Amino acid sequence: MDIALIGFGSVGKGVVQVFSKKQNQLRQKYDLSFSFKGIFTSRGAFLDSNGLDLQSILNIKDLTAHSSWKNGLSFMESIDDLDVDLVIEVTPTNIEHGEPGKSHIISSIKKGCDVVTANKGPLVVAFDELAELCRRGGCILRYEGSVGGGLPVFNLVRETLQGNTIHSLRGILNGTSNFILTQMTYERTSFESALKTAQELGYAEADPAADVEGTDAASKTVILANGLFGMNKGIDDVYIQGITKVTPEAIELAGNENFLIKHIASIEDGQIEVAPRLIQKTSPLAVDGTLNVVSLQTDLAKEITIIGQGAGGEETASAILSDVVDIHLTRKAK
Ligand SMILES: NC(=O)c1ccc[n+]([C@@H]2O[C@H](COP(=O)([O-])OP(=O)(O)OC[C@H]3O[C@@H](n4cnc5c(N)ncnc54)[C@H](OP(=O)(O)O)[C@@H]3O)[C@@H](O)[C@H]2O)c1
Repeated sequence: MDIALIGFGSVGKGVVQVFSKKQNQLRQKYDLSFSFKGIFTSRGAFLDSNGLDLQSILNIKDLTAHSSWKNGLSFMESIDDLDVDLVIEVTPTNIEHGEPGKSHIISSIKKGCDVVTANKGPLVVAFDELAELCRRGGCILRYEGSVGGGLPVFNLVRETLQGNTIHSLRGILNGTSNFILTQMTYERTSFESALKTAQELGYAEADPAADVEGTDAASKTVILANGLFGMNKGIDDVYIQGITKVTPEAIELAGNENFLIKHIASIEDGQIEVAPRLIQKTSPLAVDGTLNVVSLQTDLAKEITIIGQGAGGEETASAILSDVVDIHLTRKAK
């Protein structure tokens, strides 16, 4: 399998590390051999039609000093000449226009490539368009890493809950806001103080708006609604309420009645929302710190809950790797 990777930040580097580390296992277990022919950043790209030496790229400090580096070369300029079967798209998320990921994914599908992405933007703004392009072109698009980092939500439903109807979903889809609420609950601190701790520990960005105001969790909920429930929703269809107005007093009152306040994403009866909600302390959704959780209500298996790290380069690369293996096995079976 010949691969192009777009984005070489936290997730992109995780992808290169994980593929390097698992090379032998992938060959032995799945008969999957691969070669990365291009790795693209916003400043240029590593390019080698014979396959890049991944270890030397991981080791080099100054990317521009690498023998395969092409300064200023973009994916869009290179796509016509790239001979690859699969594109991994992990550039930054933009949920207003989906770019640059949306154009990268559309061009890849139009060229006949399968695509794996963890980028929420293109999926939030153009889910149906991308799915339709794939149908017409016979391509596969997978996006396990876009929701819940390493949590295998889509693969769980596709591969192990076949035949089940998913009635509804509830979950915690943003580790930063969950960490802040956990701090407020157990350390009895204000929102501002908990946010400061989250920033000091590197869990929250300098601009935490997308996390604490709920738009990050809302984008993931849109992807779940469209990908798991076959809806056709956008971010404007989500009722969003952030956690900025949650007070330590409200958390204490809830605690006295054996409830926690959590930032809950839900898809139920066609309604999608992300908002602070009371949950029982014994609920499967009562996970703390930066953990994410997704709980599905199904007709046959009843309630299924998965918990794990919703972010991190290696965790997200795990989801990307599983998508790539799945595409390889699907193609092999044809
Ligand atoms: N980090 C996580 O834990 C996590 C978890 C789940 C999903 N995601 C999603 O995964 C994606 C990547 O996240 P990240 O944390 O790896 O981001 P990041 O560290 O900011 O890295 C983004 C990478 O994309 C490159 N890039 C930006 N514009 C580009 C363009 N036009 N063409 C080619 N490359 C371009 C950047 O290039 P430069 O190196 O030149 O800046 C950088 O290498 C995002 O969509 C994010 O929402 C992340």
